[in-house]
Amino acid sequence: MSRIYDALQRADVERKAAQGTDATRSSETSAVAGADALPSIKAEVNTENIALHSWKPSVAFLPTLGDRGESIEQFRGLRSKLYQFRDQAKLKTILISSGLPSEGKTFVTANLAISLARNKNNRVLLIDGDLRSPSLHAILGASDIPGLTEYLAGYAEPGDIMQRNQDSSLVEAGLARSISNLAFIPAGSGGDNSSELVANHRIEELIAILAPHFDWILIDSPPILAVADSIDLARAADAVLLVARGASTSYDVAQRAQAAFKNSRILGFVLNAVKDVPPHSAYSYYYGKEEASSGLPGRKDMGRQG
Ligand SMILES: Nc1ncnc2c1ncn2[C@@H]1O[C@H](COP(=O)(O)OP(=O)(O)OP(=O)(O)O)[C@@H](O)[C@H]1O
Ligand SMILES: [Mg+2]
Repeated sequence: MSRIYDALQRADVERKAAQGTDATRSSETSAVAGADALPSIKAEVNTENIALHSWKPSVAFLPTLGDRGESIEQFRGLRSKLYQFRDQAKLKTILISSGLPSEGKTFVTANLAISLARNKNNRVLLIDGDLRSPSLHAILGASDIPGLTEYLAGYAEPGDIMQRNQDSSLVEAGLARSISNLAFIPAGSGGDNSSELVANHRIEELIAILAPHFDWILIDSPPILAVADSIDLARAADAVLLVARGASTSYDVAQRAQAAFKNSRILGFVLNAVKDVPPHSAYSYYYGKEEASSGLPGRKDMGRQG
């Protein structure tokens, strides 16, 4: 793992050097470009009227739903780091990505969203941007359509694709926690033209419409070294948070993932599924429970090509 830490330290130095340009870049990237040619979508959204569903969240995949535990502390630490980043430059919409499948993007995105939502002052939106192999709906036990696909294709409006959990479903699952301030947009029906859909700039339009209603927007994404979708998704985000998996992600993969987002503000790497991290690794975080089974149904491989 030490080579990854070396890379992280270099990324930290580069990040500090680039800090002056970050604010400019993020305001540029959040602009809605090229959306003029698309049919117009109503910009008004009433977040009070988001559809209520009875989610059945996977407690095994979402340790942050529990009352106590190491993972709660670790994600709380990551959350604090985000607050610090936000103090330095505008930060609301974050794309979570990594080089390869199974490094923990979805795990980090979902648990970070819940950790943020546990603070009642945070209005949090979680978006499944992995249109090819979506999994957040299964982890939350939520409905999978309509979702981002339907919005990007022009079949649905923002208010149609968001859902919230009815708190009673968590009580039934033995979880006292309320996550009523967490809204979710599933990936929707996906399909073979996912790349075209995420490239049509409507995602930027969606984020621009929804951003005033939320404090944090987290977007899960497919692995960047397999498909380029995340580059298009990153244009809608203020920053990218990368995930590397302990004893699995090689230095080369971490470096190539970082390079792929050269036009984005990179916050750093989350070191996922490692037991020990060196002290003072200021821009790395970890969730230390190694290889717990998620308890989720097997993932369908919807093809990572193109
Ligand atoms: N820190 C962790 N501790 C225990 N299990 C983990 C951890 N991180 C991920 N996992 C497990 O590893 C598997 C892959 O994680 P996840 O689905 O989050 O990866 P991913 O990067 O989103 O993959 P994909 O690119 O295929 O979407 C899941 O079964 C998940 O439960
Ligand atoms: Mg995933």
